[in-house]
Amino acid sequence: MTPRLVVEGLTKRFGGLVAVRDLGFEIKAGEILGLIGPNGSGKSTAMKLIMGIERPNQGSVRLDGAEMAGLPAHRIARAGVGLVFQHSRPLHRQTILENIKLALLPDSLFRLAADHSATARAREIGARVGLGAVLDRYPQTLPFADLRRLELARAIARDPKLVLVDEPFAGLTPTELADFSALIAGFREEGRAVLLVDHNVKGVAALVDRVVALYLGERIASGTAAEVMRDAKVRAVYLGGSIEAHARESRGTEAAPLLEVEAASVFYGKAQALQEVSLSVRAGEFVSLVGLNGAGKTTLFNAVSGLVPYQGRIVWDGRPLGGMTAAAVARAGIVQCPETRELFGEMSVQENLDLGGQHQPVGETRDRLAGLFDLFPILKERRTQAARTLSGGEQQMLAIARALMMNPRLLILDEPTLGLAPVILEQLSKALERLRETSDITVLLGEQNVTFALSHADRVYVLEHARIIWQGPPSRFAAEAGAGYL
Ligand SMILES: Nc1ncnc2c1ncn2[C@@H]1O[C@H](COP(=O)(O)OP(=O)(O)OP(=O)(O)O)[C@@H](O)[C@H]1O
Ligand SMILES: [Mg+2]
Repeated sequence: MTPRLVVEGLTKRFGGLVAVRDLGFEIKAGEILGLIGPNGSGKSTAMKLIMGIERPNQGSVRLDGAEMAGLPAHRIARAGVGLVFQHSRPLHRQTILENIKLALLPDSLFRLAADHSATARAREIGARVGLGAVLDRYPQTLPFADLRRLELARAIARDPKLVLVDEPFAGLTPTELADFSALIAGFREEGRAVLLVDHNVKGVAALVDRVVALYLGERIASGTAAEVMRDAKVRAVYLGGSIEAHARESRGTEAAPLLEVEAASVFYGKAQALQEVSLSVRAGEFVSLVGLNGAGKTTLFNAVSGLVPYQGRIVWDGRPLGGMTAAAVARAGIVQCPETRELFGEMSVQENLDLGGQHQPVGETRDRLAGLFDLFPILKERRTQAARTLSGGEQQMLAIARALMMNPRLLILDEPTLGLAPVILEQLSKALERLRETSDITVLLGEQNVTFALSHADRVYVLEHARIIWQGPPSRFAAEAGAGYL
C-alpha cells in the first residue's frame, strides 16, 4: 500500500535560521505518527509546510502520490488536508455552528446562509467532537477545552485524508485529555492519516503508532514510542530528567503576610467566577494555586493585578489595593505573567525584555538579562526575532523572562508550564529553586500541572468551581485533595 503522506527532503529557512532541515517521513492511512522535539525544533513549521501555510525552500510533500509542496493552503485543504492549530482562533462574531460551517465551505461564503445541507453537516461534526450542546453559543462564552474542540471540528469539516494536530492536549484536564485522545483515535479508525504534535509525552505515546523526534529542525530518532523515548539523544535534548520534589525548609512561615485576599468575589455578568476566596501569601513564600481550567485561577490573579473589579478586600503589604489601576499595582511590585502571554508581537525578543527592565538600574538589568539568557538560551539566539514569529514554547519563555526582568516582589505565574518541552520544565523548575535560594522573591503559582505545582510550593490551595476547597502543605495534597488531579 502506498503511504497516504510522503514527505521528503523538506527544508525551510527563515533568514539565516534553518527551521526544518531535510525532513522525511511517511504516514499510512489509518496511522498516527507522533512528532516530538524541544521548543523551536520545527514541529509547527513542518505542519505549516505540509498545509501550505508556509512555502518550503526545498522538498516534496505527496498526498496519495500527488505533489503538494508549494501549493497554496486552500488547494491543499481541498486535496484533503486539515490542520488543528496550536492556538485556537475562532471567529468571535460567529456562533460555534457558523464557525464550523465556514470551515466546511470556505470558498462559497455567500451561498452558505441558505445551505441546509451544510447546516446539517456542521451539526453532525459539532456533535461528533462534543459541541452538540453549545452550537448556538459564541466562542467567548465557551471554556478553553470547547474552543479546542472547535479547532478539531474545523480541521475535520471537509473530511480530510490527513489531519495535522498541533498540541491538542496543552491545557486540558486529565478527563478532557482522555476525551481528546479518543477523538483522535477515532480519526485513525476512520482511515485518516494523523500527524500529532504534543509535549504531553505520555499522551502521545499512548496514542501513536510511531514517533519521529526532531531537534534543530532535523530528525534525530524514529521508531515506536518506546524506542524513541529510550533514545539517548532524545533523552538529552528533549525529555531530560524528571522534576524532583525539592526537600527543603519551608520559607516564610514566620513572616508577615505580603498579600492577603479576603473574601474576594468576581462576577462576569450573572456568572460568578470567584466566590468569597480568601488566601494569604507571606513574604518569601512560594504558594501554589492548583485548579483545573475554568476553576477561577486567572480571575483571581486578574483581581489581584487590578485587571477585573471585585468585591471583598485585597491587601498588599498592609495596604488595600482596591481602586488601584493595573499599572499602579505593577509599580507596587506585583507582576503577573499572564497565561495569554500578551507580548508585543511586532517587537523583537530583546525589545520585549528591555521593556520589562525599564526604570531600573542599568547594571542590575544587565545582570538579570544575562541570567535569563542563561536560563533560556534559545531566547538569546532569537534576540532580534519578532516575538510573534517565535514558536509556542519560545513565547512562553519570553513571557516568563519579561516578568522576571521587572524584578517583582511578588511574581504571579499563571500556567507557566503550558506548551513547554519536558527539558525546559526541568530548567524552569531549577530556575525557580535558584530564585528561592538567591533572592527574597515571593511567588504565587497557578497550575493544573500538579507535579510542577507541588514541587515548588511551601503551601498549596485548591480552587474548584470558583471556591477554595482545600489548603495545606504539599505533603498532604495526594492523600487529601489529589483525586482528579493526580
Ligand atoms: N516567521 C518566522 N521567522 C523567523 N523565525 C521563525 C519564523 N517562524 C518560526 N521561526 C523559528 O523557527 C523555529 C521553529 O519554530 P516552530 O514553531 O516550528 O517550533 P516548534 O517545534 O513548533 O516549537 P514549540 O514546541 O515551542 O511549539 C523557532 O525557533 C522559531 O523561532
Ligand atoms: Mg509549535
